[in-house]
Amino acid sequence: MALLSVSDPGLSRVAGLGIAAGAGLTAYAVWETRAYTLRRIEVALLPAGQRPLKVLHLSDIHMTPGQTRKQEWLSSLVALQPDLVVDTGDNLSHRDSVPVVRDSLGALLDLPGVFVHGSNDYFEPTVRNPFRYLLPDKGKRHIRSSQLPWRALSRTLTDAGWTDLTNRRATTVVGETTLSFAGVDDPHLSYDRLDLVQGRADPDADVRLGIAHAPYLRVLDQYAEDGYDVVLAGHTHGGQICLPGGRAWTTNCDLEPARAKGLHRHPADSQPGEPGSAWLHVSAGIGTSPYTRIRVACRPEATLITMVPHR
Ligand SMILES: [Fe+2]
Repeated sequence: MALLSVSDPGLSRVAGLGIAAGAGLTAYAVWETRAYTLRRIEVALLPAGQRPLKVLHLSDIHMTPGQTRKQEWLSSLVALQPDLVVDTGDNLSHRDSVPVVRDSLGALLDLPGVFVHGSNDYFEPTVRNPFRYLLPDKGKRHIRSSQLPWRALSRTLTDAGWTDLTNRRATTVVGETTLSFAGVDDPHLSYDRLDLVQGRADPDADVRLGIAHAPYLRVLDQYAEDGYDVVLAGHTHGGQICLPGGRAWTTNCDLEPARAKGLHRHPADSQPGEPGSAWLHVSAGIGTSPYTRIRVACRPEATLITMVPHR
């Protein structure tokens, strides 16, 4: 049998095609990180007769100062005229990003808003193999790198009037709708203090929302059990590197990949109106770590959730 060698023209052609395909896929994956997309959904959450309420869900912005296209796209979202902004964390990816996030949110900061932080608001990103994201979580957390200015981020957002939901509950009235919130610090770092927020959700509110950066099951279970109508989270990046059609391999937490992004029920097989169950909306997020700046079949996104009355 003849041995193949690098001088074999057939093998060289196959190797060349493989390199070209890899380069093409990488170029596409880099391009997709900037293919910013708005997703719109409608959920029946309001009492009958109330005016629809537009909630803009932002997550995982991962801002670095040079990302002008992302900054312009974020600023443009105010044209949607949302009634409320929910920011589920990972706003930062650079120590100089707080003023950049503030300027990019721009007029969105004049609207009612709530937020929690994610791990990337606390710690500087580190160089990683992008494909490690697809491997099982071994529980290692990057908490030894330098801290990012998360306190300045909190101050910037609260000074603008947004509510910090870090391990606390809050109530706000938007238009004619009373919204009650519970929020936790990042469950991915085990910073969540469910003991501080658990308990029956406010029965007098029109809508009850549970907020977290990472959608770990213990948090979703608690919110659903306490009677929250909808849980909003990010962190998963929608799987970030997905199969054609957007099917995720991973969520980077204990949520199963089938719910890596979009609107689902929690528990997954529950029905609206069932006690102990809630809607779950997971954002695929707007950014990525600066060291894994690729996305495949998983566009960066913000979501406009229109809450409409129950029929
Ligand atoms: Fe993130």
